[in-house]
Amino acid sequence: MNKREASNIILTGFMASGKTTLSKKLEKSFGYTRISTDEMIVEKLEMSINEIFDTFGEEYFRKLENEILLEVIEVLKDSSKNFVVDCGGGICYAENLVELKNFGEVYFLNVPFERLLNRLEKDTTRPLARDKNSLRRLYQVRLKAYKKLAVKEIFGVSTDDFVKELGL
Ligand code: S3P
Repeated sequence: MNKREASNIILTGFMASGKTTLSKKLEKSFGYTRISTDEMIVEKLEMSINEIFDTFGEEYFRKLENEILLEVIEVLKDSSKNFVVDCGGGICYAENLVELKNFGEVYFLNVPFERLLNRLEKDTTRPLARDKNSLRRLYQVRLKAYKKLAVKEIFGVSTDDFVKELGL
C-alpha cells in the first residue's frame, strides 16, 4: 500500500521537466494508469507534434488540447482506477483544465531553468524549443501559470526526487 492516499495525479510543468518519465514510473512501480495528452493528440491525428504545429499552427494544437482534456475527463469520471495524467507543457492555459482539476490533484514539477535548457539543447521533437533564445521568456511567463494552477509544487531534478515529493 502506498504511503500516500491514492487518487488521480495530474502532472504539469515546462517542457523537459520530467512529466513523461515520472508518469511512466508511477505506472510501472506504483500501479497508476497512465494517460498522456500529447500521445492522445498524436494518435488522434496520426501526426507528430512537429507536423501538427507546422501544418495547422499552435492555435489549432491548443484547440486539440482542450478537446483531449474533455476526453480525459470522461475517462476519469467513469473509472475507479487511479490515473496519472502527463499533460503537455502548454496545458496550463486550457479552458477545460478547470474541470479536469475536479478529478485529481495538479502537481507542478519545478525544475531549475538551466537544467531544462540543458535538456532542451538538442531536442528536435518540440516546436516551441526550436528557438532557444525565446525559451527563457516563455519559461518566465509559464512559471506564473503553473504556480497558479497547481495544488502543489514539487521540486527536483530527477524522477526519484519527485516520487519522494509525492510521498510515495
Ligand atoms: C508544449 C509542450 C510539449 C507539447 C508541445 C507544446 C508547450 O509537451 O505539448 O510541444 O507548449 O509547452 P511536453 O511538455 O511534454 O514537452
